[in-house]
Amino acid sequence: MTTRIGIDAGGTLTKIAYWNENNEMVFDRFLSSDFQKVKEWIESNHPNASICVTGGRAEQLKVHFSSKEDIPYIVEFDATMNGVMYQMKQGSIEPKAAIIANIGTGTSIHIMQNNIHKRLGGTGIGGGTLLGLGMALTGISDFEEIIKQSREGSRTEIDVLVSDIYKNNKLPIKGTLTASNFGGISLNNSNNRSSSDLLAGVQGIIGEVVASLCIQVADAHQVEDIIYIGTTLEDNELLQQIIESYTVLKLKKPTFLDKHGYSGAIGALLENTKKY
Ligand SMILES: Nc1ncnc2c1ncn2[C@@H]1O[C@H](COP(=O)(O)OP(=O)(O)OP(=O)(O)O)[C@@H](O)[C@H]1O
Ligand SMILES: [Mg+2]
Repeated sequence: MTTRIGIDAGGTLTKIAYWNENNEMVFDRFLSSDFQKVKEWIESNHPNASICVTGGRAEQLKVHFSSKEDIPYIVEFDATMNGVMYQMKQGSIEPKAAIIANIGTGTSIHIMQNNIHKRLGGTGIGGGTLLGLGMALTGISDFEEIIKQSREGSRTEIDVLVSDIYKNNKLPIKGTLTASNFGGISLNNSNNRSSSDLLAGVQGIIGEVVASLCIQVADAHQVEDIIYIGTTLEDNELLQQIIESYTVLKLKKPTFLDKHGYSGAIGALLENTKKY
């Protein structure tokens, strides 16, 4: 039987979803900087597979398969939204309307309402920022190491809280909210910070920027549910925690899907499956 494969060639990572012989959906992942490896993996494991691709680097990936007939392509946002809906249905959750934030290399923000989706905006602050700013500040380039160290860090010396500014004054908003990400480094004029603290601070920027954008668009569209996806969240409890607590504080309902970064690949696989 022909194996059906969905591939999401993203800015940083290429995600793969396919059906195994037991008809279970399984997943794999490669760096987008090494498409040759993706090609080798397919040629040695699934040489006769039927493939559907999505993602910003789909055309770059296709070049490596020039000997094959033209590989079908599905628009990234369609694939991602279909992948999200599929996972929601699998988990028996299906909000009527939701904001969806894909925290990939950068972050893209969408609304899904009555099965119609629309891109509302985004920000360049995303997983690439975690890797890039993390590397610039600490020299650490490995994602897992960045995550591990950031978990051990403290943002006390890095950020300024509302309560730091309003010391003896009546607080106009919650004192534990961040008044300034990284503002503490200059205001405290202290050198008392470690790599872990800096990395925790970078996670803070990403989580708070993305969550506050989502909360604002959710308010503007009167939507309660916000679904956060993207591989940046994978095994990254600190980022999930930052996003969750801020989203809940602003009376919205955050959801994280199990297969954080695979929505696009799942959508491409479903597109590839429905034709047969
Ligand atoms: N092993 C890993 N190597 C590199 N980055 C990783 C790894 N694991 C998780 N990440 C994080 O995942 C992010 C990429 O997320 P994702 O796969 O959702 O984006 P993408 O699809 O490649 O990018 P985009 O959708 O913006 O084109 C990275 O920027 C990084 O923060
Ligand atoms: Mg992506």
